[in-house]
Amino acid sequence: MNIFVVNGSPRAENSNSLQLTRAFLDGAGYDAEIATLAKLRIASCRGCFACWQKTPGLCAIKDDMAWILNKIITADVLVWSFPLYYFSLPGALKNLIDRELPLHLPFMAADAPNGGHPPRHDLSRQRHAVISTCGFWRSEGNYDGVTAMFDHMYGNGNYAKIFCGQGELFRFPELRERTRAYLELVRKAGAEFARGGIRPETQRELAEPLCAREAFEQMADASWGVSGDGTVKTDDDGFGFMTQMAALYRPDGKGRVIEFAFTDLARTYQIICSPDGHRLIRDDFRPYTTRIETPYAVWKAIARGEISGQEALSQRKYRVLGDFDLLLRWDGLFGAGPASSPPPGKEGGQKSNMAVLLAPWMVLWAAPAVHPAAGGVLGVITAAAVPLIWFLCKPTPFEQISVPAVAGLSLLAFAGGDPRLIVPAGYGFFGLLWLSTAFCGIPLTAYYAQNSHGGGKALENPLFMRTNRILTASWGVLFLLTPFWTYWLMATAVSPFIGLVNAALPVILGVFSAWFQKWYPAKWARG
Ligand SMILES: Cc1cc2nc3c(=O)[nH]c(=O)nc-3n(C[C@H](O)[C@H](O)[C@H](O)COP(=O)(O)O)c2cc1C
Repeated sequence: MNIFVVNGSPRAENSNSLQLTRAFLDGAGYDAEIATLAKLRIASCRGCFACWQKTPGLCAIKDDMAWILNKIITADVLVWSFPLYYFSLPGALKNLIDRELPLHLPFMAADAPNGGHPPRHDLSRQRHAVISTCGFWRSEGNYDGVTAMFDHMYGNGNYAKIFCGQGELFRFPELRERTRAYLELVRKAGAEFARGGIRPETQRELAEPLCAREAFEQMADASWGVSGDGTVKTDDDGFGFMTQMAALYRPDGKGRVIEFAFTDLARTYQIICSPDGHRLIRDDFRPYTTRIETPYAVWKAIARGEISGQEALSQRKYRVLGDFDLLLRWDGLFGAGPASSPPPGKEGGQKSNMAVLLAPWMVLWAAPAVHPAAGGVLGVITAAAVPLIWFLCKPTPFEQISVPAVAGLSLLAFAGGDPRLIVPAGYGFFGLLWLSTAFCGIPLTAYYAQNSHGGGKALENPLFMRTNRILTASWGVLFLLTPFWTYWLMATAVSPFIGLVNAALPVILGVFSAWFQKWYPAKWARG
């Protein structure tokens, strides 16, 4: 299959639009030939009509257009890639389109309601895609001129179109997270095009602005490095960078004040986040929720993806004061996804739940001690119910191990086994399970805590993992020691209440864990 792309951006390979086009081709699985207009010699049409009269089908001008025309005739898929210039096409591309005259016959087409010329070649097999970025905050309303022209050329609805506002964002490495998500969508559109056509849902998603209008326009204005009076700013005071970063903020329904102190620039900025929006200020500061003290160069390198934020923190290249939790949720709050995507923590998809792990064990620890047979039956029923809950909550390996373990021990109790041995054995098994994961890749608590810390990304955070490793080990030791006093207590009158008695220490450790998982990372980050 011949795939031919006309890259009409004067920026040649550095075109924003071409980034989209490449993603589209990649998604479609097309190996395309790309003609870069900026590198070709294509004069404007002279209007001599020699291609219709003297030399039918051949242009009088001898330049690169002869090659282009040949490519256009033989292409099975023709992709037009260009920036929006003055609500239309860049001049060089319009030149090229004017020079397509040899592809038409001079006669008037009978089937064109407003007039037209029939094609000289049968190109009915050919499919078309029009891909473009523009500088305004959205594409809607800005491409009327472009669509009017392509509608005339190919017929309304007979070509795929991807028009993307905020095109200049594709140039900033600091915004790569956001633009990468959009390019992924374009890739998906390419795949759908290759299968027949871009689906309406994908088309709707493609039309969504990358950033909210106000944030984008603030960022765009600041990016020029020109003051309000039109003079060029000589120093980079970090304001443009901060507006860019603030623009990426996705409200999660919480109010907070994020303070940035650039230690080398002696500049401070605050992003004031309210449940439904945010703004950047440089004076009249409020008490901060989280303060990040960092050299400007370090934070810029992090934003560009040159160094990892966690790595820089562990090397103490910056420090964090106040609420550290924000940093664990950074990627969710400042990460990929269009402005209208769900706020962090409210994304769809199943989440694990520690109650699903604990419930069958708690039944095993309490019920057989009250009535071995009935307790055993209850234990089996609870263990059997866990797989049903997996339809609602994401299962973890520990729950998968727990189900047969609890069911087996409960059956033992039902069959007349001694609860004085079964209950401590349950604690011992559970303790081993916890403690062993403290030495594995992902400690047990991290599986569950990631839900409230930005999902799987939290698992890449060394501080989050270290905190959870300590907590998992603490719980493992507690559960491993519990069998000793349980065995002894079950020989006393306390035995029927053993489940209740043994709940006291976990409650205390639970309170400690809630405190520790905030205190420990914050202590580390303070330096
Ligand atoms: C001469 C000129 C005219 C432009 N006209 C518009 C316009 O009418 N509307 C718009 O949204 N952006 C306009 N832009 C911005 C470009 O469309 C935008 O920067 C685009 O992302 C550039 O894409 P490229 O890197 O593929 O060339 C214009 C840019 C230039 C240089």
